[in-house]
Amino acid sequence: MSWHATCLTLFPGMFPGPLGESLAGRALRDRIWRLEARDIRTHGLGRHRTVDDTPFGGGAGMVMRPDVVDAAIAEAMPEGDARPLIYLTPRGRLLDQPLVRELSAGPGVVLLCGRYEGVDQRVIEHRAMQEVSLGDFVLSGGEMAALTLLDACVRLLPGVMGAAESGVEESHSAGLLEYPHYTRPAEWQGRAVPPVLLSGHHAEVARWRRGEMEAATRERRPDLWTRHLVAREGAAA
Ligand code: ADE
Repeated sequence: MSWHATCLTLFPGMFPGPLGESLAGRALRDRIWRLEARDIRTHGLGRHRTVDDTPFGGGAGMVMRPDVVDAAIAEAMPEGDARPLIYLTPRGRLLDQPLVRELSAGPGVVLLCGRYEGVDQRVIEHRAMQEVSLGDFVLSGGEMAALTLLDACVRLLPGVMGAAESGVEESHSAGLLEYPHYTRPAEWQGRAVPPVLLSGHHAEVARWRRGEMEAATRERRPDLWTRHLVAREGAAA
């Protein structure tokens, strides 16, 4: 059985979008994974297929009704569906590579894409959704976040990436930023490639790259650097 992604959305036309191209698109055609976009509006109420209403307590915008969202989930996830149900929201835990690896290793995902101000809290709790955020910024809806999460998961599926690049390098660099990359020409716009990379000395190259990874992480992402140091302490103890 291929890895199965279901997106619950008011904009099914946004799928597969960019995931129909490149690596993910080829894997989709090769049936390494499967993508299903389901229109929440088919569960809307009345002649207008209403999916939202004004927030209790007042305030701007509209909130997606719990009964409508629940009906969409019930239809998308038959009894015994073991896939995690994820609601994409800036209120969620941050998406990171360990979570991506975990999701990619499972049977697939069901992604709820919210619009408007959000989704009624009760259906989030009733369905025990995992709430996941891409970062500290606000998108106009969960669709772009869902596409991003799927891209990150799909590239890790067996057979999607070439054996060379798959995972190996990544687990090596666990928690550090990547080193900078260079290709020909060896000199461009008066800028030379770091000489060590032309030396053919593999151990020296590896040491230089490791140094660049650590320097970049320390300078740009002190949060990751602290976590890295703590992990290194733990490993040494
Ligand atoms: N929906 C709106 N903003 C989002 C974000 N930052 N991450 C995930 N889902 C979102």
